[in-house]
Amino acid sequence: MIVYRTRDDLTGHLNSLRSEKNSIGLVPTMGALHRGHTSLVEKAAAENDVVVVTIFVNPTQFNDPADLEYYPRTLDRDLEMLQKLEADLVFVPSVKEMYPEEDERVFDLDSIDKVMEGKHRKGHFNGVAQIVSKLFLLTQPDRAYFGQKDFQQLVIVRRLTEILNLDIQIVPCPIIREKDGLAMSSRNERLNREKRKLAPFIYETLKLASEKKEDLTPSEVKDWVYKRFDKAPELSLEYFEIVEDKALKPISDWDEGVNKVGCLAVHLGSVRLLDNLNFD
Ligand code: PAJ
Repeated sequence: MIVYRTRDDLTGHLNSLRSEKNSIGLVPTMGALHRGHTSLVEKAAAENDVVVVTIFVNPTQFNDPADLEYYPRTLDRDLEMLQKLEADLVFVPSVKEMYPEEDERVFDLDSIDKVMEGKHRKGHFNGVAQIVSKLFLLTQPDRAYFGQKDFQQLVIVRRLTEILNLDIQIVPCPIIREKDGLAMSSRNERLNREKRKLAPFIYETLKLASEKKEDLTPSEVKDWVYKRFDKAPELSLEYFEIVEDKALKPISDWDEGVNKVGCLAVHLGSVRLLDNLNFD
């Protein structure tokens, strides 16, 4: 495994690998790696000759400076974890390396960046689009791996690839959960023991809600979810929507011929948790 810190060193190596007809799989991350991330690396290793993992806490996607400052940074441990997997190249650039000058690009993402997460984290997805487009252009992978955990991000990255006309296959990867159902996230570490015990309520609610499909309309299911969270005062529901998986429009009928995903964000103390479940 080779760790690169500069774009020139990385692209030099990738160009020679590409000229030898190796396929390249890209796994973009912000580090603080856990089993959710490693599942992406494993899938990339199974499907490509070469796996590139990037570790970069991207400042332009944080709209809260405190969130950026306290984002966990565990590089030594991350590299140790990657060493045990089949990661070939790891790219760990500095902010200056990725943004030698300010990135002023504004992406037109057809409003799919304005709903759900986008509504509550203004500018977040434009920042994601800035860094992901830079990483795509730099590494020119055959395939790029994204977790369904960040469902809206996955849909936006797909759209971004279309807008930029890039021939990159976006590979969705299933959500990896703890035994009690909590979706793995680097933010989970910030839950104290008491809050951690309450967290499985989130996935439990999603599962129960998806079963309500038999008796309730989508908007009644939405009301049911809000009422259930009202009874759990420690968990504050920021939003719950059942959307289709392209324009992210809320569905009004179960019979619509689209894939349906129930998405939510919840505050548990000071920690904001995201989850979603397929409602097909
Ligand atoms: P990060 O939060 O580090 O996540 C990196 C990738 O791991 C994302 O594709 C995310 O969806 C996936 N992932 C995280 N937890 C997961 C879980 N429990 N199961 C499956 N996949 C999981 O997402 C980002 O970084 C950034 O926005 C990035 C795309 C790197 C751009 O900066």
